[in-house]
Amino acid sequence: MIKIAENIFWTGYVDWNLRSFHGYSTPSGSTYNAYLILDEHPVLIDTVKHYGYNEMLQRIKEAIDPSKIEYIISNHTEMDHSGSIDKLLSFCPNAQVVCSPKGEEGLKRHFKKNWNFKVVNSGDTLNIGRRNLKFFLMPMVHWPDSMATYSVEDNILFPNDAFGQHYASCERFADEVGIDIVVKEAAKYYANIVMPYGGQVLKALDVIRDIKIGAICPSHGLIWRRKEDLDKIVSLYKKWANYETGNSVVIVYDTMWHSTERMAQTLYELLDKENIPVKFFSLQNTHISDVIAEIISAKIVMAGSSILNNKILPSMGAFLTYSKGLKPKNRYGFTFGSYGWAKIGFKELEDSLKEAGMELLAEGRYINYVPDDIELEGLKDIIVKVKNLLSA
Ligand code: FEO
Repeated sequence: MIKIAENIFWTGYVDWNLRSFHGYSTPSGSTYNAYLILDEHPVLIDTVKHYGYNEMLQRIKEAIDPSKIEYIISNHTEMDHSGSIDKLLSFCPNAQVVCSPKGEEGLKRHFKKNWNFKVVNSGDTLNIGRRNLKFFLMPMVHWPDSMATYSVEDNILFPNDAFGQHYASCERFADEVGIDIVVKEAAKYYANIVMPYGGQVLKALDVIRDIKIGAICPSHGLIWRRKEDLDKIVSLYKKWANYETGNSVVIVYDTMWHSTERMAQTLYELLDKENIPVKFFSLQNTHISDVIAEIISAKIVMAGSSILNNKILPSMGAFLTYSKGLKPKNRYGFTFGSYGWAKIGFKELEDSLKEAGMELLAEGRYINYVPDDIELEGLKDIIVKVKNLLSA
């Protein structure tokens, strides 16, 4: 266990070897953060994935006999946080499981048990002795059941997925790791987990604007505790939730016989020559969750694919399906690619970018078989449109 504040301890699990979180690549692993509050009525805020249970239990036992826990707060039903509640209740069968109304529904569907639930709503408080815990429902950040718990006397917010990062480390505080690293991971986390719910994030930010926050203890990754770091992550969340972008271009493509790649490379060189910030990703080498992480700060997404059996390549199909779910709105898209005998497959490329919330910058450029120098030269028109858009 690790002390977070007076009588508040981290009792979570570091998942060093996690490399995929339901499709989100996690080269740095993750953590599932459970927090133990020792007071007259001891509380555990969230648990860990089922395979981290023993480690969590060991940490709890360093501080308290687990049978003494009176409340297990489930801020979020998803099993990375609630997966060990059932086993923990075998020690403290009379403990109340505190959750939102949707949390109760979700936990019953997952565990098929009628635990001793204590259902709370926004603004409800729970006195646990010297402290009061206050609850804020945060639907869709990340599931309909999600809520935050706030320790009033400690000024500590436990917002579950919000402000989290998939990052395994020995350290528990963002400032111990280096703020640039943690912000980069938080951006990837936001892009891949939270991005579709900008409106709900703004509502959650409105709620927490009126409370004093000395630390944010998310349920993944590192704790934010320095004032400047707290200000930074809250203002970034506001920016991301408003779908504000930077001025960069992301080129993402896959290719069969290098023709689409030549188009992608030409676009990259032309943009670079104009000093327009541009990033360049082949889906053969880059995971879709890493591309999405770059799109969070991009104004324009250029997506290119070859045509295979009248369809775009499967890797591009996966990227587009993912993007349509995450909806990086307020951006512009441009489509390109090489085809053999029919262009029909490019319609899916165009429609998917639109469905992902992007406006098409220009008509797509599709080249038969292998591009020649004149056709590649013709891509300069697109660069002019990009310049005009970025300088507008
Ligand atoms: Fe970390 Fe939505 O669970």
